[in-house]
Amino acid sequence: MVNRLRSLLFVITFITLLVGCSNSQKATSKKEETPSLKEVFKNDFLIGTALNTPQIEEKDAGAAVLVPQQFNAATPENIMKAQIIHPEWSRYDFDLADKMIDYGKKNNILINGHTLIWHSQLPRFMYGIKDADSVKQFFTDHIKTVAGRYSGKVFSWDVVNEALNEDGTMRKSIFLDKLGDDFVTEAFRLTQEASPNTELYYNDYNNEQPQKRAGCIRLVKKIQEAGVRIDGVGIQGHWHVGKVPFDDIEKSILEYSALGLKVMFTELDIEVLPRNFSGADINQRVASNPSLNPYVNGLPDSVQQQLAQDYENLFKLFLKHKDKISRVTFWGVNDGQSWLNGWPVRGRTNYPLLFDREYKPKPAFFKVIEAKKNFNPTEKKSF
Ligand code: G3I
Repeated sequence: MVNRLRSLLFVITFITLLVGCSNSQKATSKKEETPSLKEVFKNDFLIGTALNTPQIEEKDAGAAVLVPQQFNAATPENIMKAQIIHPEWSRYDFDLADKMIDYGKKNNILINGHTLIWHSQLPRFMYGIKDADSVKQFFTDHIKTVAGRYSGKVFSWDVVNEALNEDGTMRKSIFLDKLGDDFVTEAFRLTQEASPNTELYYNDYNNEQPQKRAGCIRLVKKIQEAGVRIDGVGIQGHWHVGKVPFDDIEKSILEYSALGLKVMFTELDIEVLPRNFSGADINQRVASNPSLNPYVNGLPDSVQQQLAQDYENLFKLFLKHKDKISRVTFWGVNDGQSWLNGWPVRGRTNYPLLFDREYKPKPAFFKVIEAKKNFNPTEKKSF
């Protein structure tokens, strides 16, 4: 009898342990589930990322899982630029851009076309062209063909990219030189004709800075006064840890939206490595030097915390003005893929995004989520 009781007790204990164990496993896996940015901010603004070629082609296994979980908007990092989509005078290559559209459709991700008119990454044939008529023909054909093909397929276009200097004057470029400073308005007019239901944006870096912002506002007013549609301004948001210009960002949100425009943060990343200038002019280069690459073996905790703090404060600011902000897009999925590993110094180890090289969320990711959890709309904090 005692033996039978003992066996019964043993069986009961075993079952209890088994159930307890499986429950605690469930609890742990529930606890460990990573929140989704697109879900957390679904009532606030779209959350986007830039995608590179392996990601668009779903050859990057980590991104294939993470991107649809986290993002509801995407911008092709390179493949819609003229150099790639329009490699020869009368030849276009739509292969990758079409894949991007399919990827967006399949994953419920809105595509922002990037970019129709940019002085940089032009096809090689453009550098041999000297006469204004040929530049005009390229400009017109390019916009009509590319914007026309993706009409109704992309949600929006960065129609013109980086047309301004830091002092707010028009940047010297083949377009300014050959077509005059109405080229920006003309680009919007042509895109509107080719793709009538697509949102149209002007996109730049440092256009939260006072002088460049003033130039950007002049540019927008010029487009509007010509009776041409512009729907939004993209502030790229290539900033530096500990030096994020919160006041200028807030003023820019207010001033751009006062023009009747949507405001977007279109290429967000926060650089953690030493650099003595701001912005994102890809022509600026600095020679490699070990002192400029200090975190090859990992990011010190103090910098990690500062990065997280900067991201938290940024998202608090975005939430405060969520009625004016339509999208926040990160310039890359994970740290290892960021363009900042190669610019302005080649071969560095940078950490500017929310996901690390293994696609794991970083402290900055959780601070961004916390910004939403703790958001108090009446708080008047200045950042
Ligand atoms: O096309 C060649 C390819 O054939 C070759 O295999 C590869 C090897 O290095 O180089 C490829 O081109 C590079 C391209 O990225 C694709 O990786 C270019 O040299 C390189 O200059 C290019 O950099 C891009 C840069 O724009 C210039 O287009 C960056 O990835 C991209 O992040 C960056 O994005 C810009 C935005 O469009 C506008 N705002 C600033 C932002 C950062 O510079």
